Amino acid sequence: MADELLKIVDQRTNSSYELPLSKGAIRAADLKKIKTGPEDSGVVSYDPAFLNTAACQSSITFIDGDKGILRYRGYPIEQLAEKCTFLEVAYLILHGELPTETQLENWVKDIKSHTMLHEKTKSFLEGFNHDAHPMGMFISTLAALSTLYPEARKVRDPEVRKLQIRRLVGKVPTIAAYTYRHSLGFPYVYPDNDLSYTENFMNMLWRMVEPKYQANPVLSRALDILFILHADHEQNCSANVMRAVGSSEADPYVATAAAAAALSGPLHGGANEEVLKMLDEIGSKDRVPAYIERVKAGQFKLMGFGHRIYKNYDPRARIIKWAADQVFVATGRNPKLDIALELEKVALEDEYFIKRKLYPNVDFYSGIIYQALGFKPDLFTVLFAIPRTVGWLAQWQDMLDDPEQKIARPRQIYTGYAARDFVPIEKRAARPVGAAR
Ligand code: ACO
Repeated sequence: MADELLKIVDQRTNSSYELPLSKGAIRAADLKKIKTGPEDSGVVSYDPAFLNTAACQSSITFIDGDKGILRYRGYPIEQLAEKCTFLEVAYLILHGELPTETQLENWVKDIKSHTMLHEKTKSFLEGFNHDAHPMGMFISTLAALSTLYPEARKVRDPEVRKLQIRRLVGKVPTIAAYTYRHSLGFPYVYPDNDLSYTENFMNMLWRMVEPKYQANPVLSRALDILFILHADHEQNCSANVMRAVGSSEADPYVATAAAAAALSGPLHGGANEEVLKMLDEIGSKDRVPAYIERVKAGQFKLMGFGHRIYKNYDPRARIIKWAADQVFVATGRNPKLDIALELEKVALEDEYFIKRKLYPNVDFYSGIIYQALGFKPDLFTVLFAIPRTVGWLAQWQDMLDDPEQKIARPRQIYTGYAARDFVPIEKRAARPVGAAR
């Protein structure tokens, strides 16, 4: 039911239209009725990169980018990061409510029963070069899981869906750890279900010959908090890919692999690795102003800065800064933090960044804390993908349960040639490439 009406006057025909306006949105499909005549297929909305298009209704995550607010299912991210474990937040995101003690116990048990990988996965990983990027191995292994669980294609069956969600949440840390062990040539470490989700991940990464891996509780808690902060972020690039691929009813393994591929780009989750490279390149605090000048001259972007939605401080960056202080007590201070703090200070006082409302995003400080925790930079985006798998799956489930959703299929505004006759090769003149654009 529409709350209000939006009146539009078409000056081409002097006709006026009343479009239903609900929750501040008109339906783009209603624009079709605005036409100049029977031959006209109607007005479309043109929105490259979805700057102002709501593609769904969703109750999972709320962001107010101007105020710097992030909530999962209504709960402020600050409270969840302080009081919950990652698996508790994963339950909240996927089920809509925080679990009771019994629900949490069963959920944790369920997830732990799916942490093992099929033994074939090892031989699959063996095919990669030792220096293959972990994100490439992670994406490919996720897609390969599809071949092991063919029943996952029954995406309309709620029980099948439930099982795949548990499998994916359980297995992503194992895949991530195996990509790391593969790159070092170390034997793979099997999951240890006595340990928490993050402790077990650390066990699979770093256990060598000791009979039982003991995680430093400060570090495993910091990693748990990082996982909470990265679990969902409403309709970002990778969530949109998850929904788009899932809308064709492809199975959740290939859809998650596609979402992870979107995450890997440097403008999205790949930025955390780029931030570390940037801090290395800057090298010392005194070189920050010169670097900022090069950013302002358009030579490159300041990685870890700017966001499509946040035009204020990203609340996740603030929590990461707090968590970093706890980690540094245990590990010693990462000297890159001083360069990052100086970069932030110089940028936030500079007219270029003020005018464009560019603030540090989640990726600005996460790399520094990941490095202090002992991770190599090329694993950073994989660390982002582990918890984000929860968000992708929640978005996927939301999309499949939404009766208004169909296969995703945007329109285009065709700008190419009108119909023209085929020209035999001997009569063709060379034309500049891209002449039709
Ligand atoms: N450094 C310098 N200038 C920037 C930056 C930056 N990091 N980000 C945006 N700008 C400038 C743009 O050049 C543009 O300037 P102009 O108006 O003079 O042309 C203006 O700010 C607006 O930027 P857009 O590119 O239009 O913003 P958009 O919403 O499309 O992009 C994005 C957002 C991709 C995050 C961008 O800010 C960026 O590339 N940041 C660096 C990469 C990064 O940190 N990505 C992680 C994002 S968080 C995440 O995905 C998990």
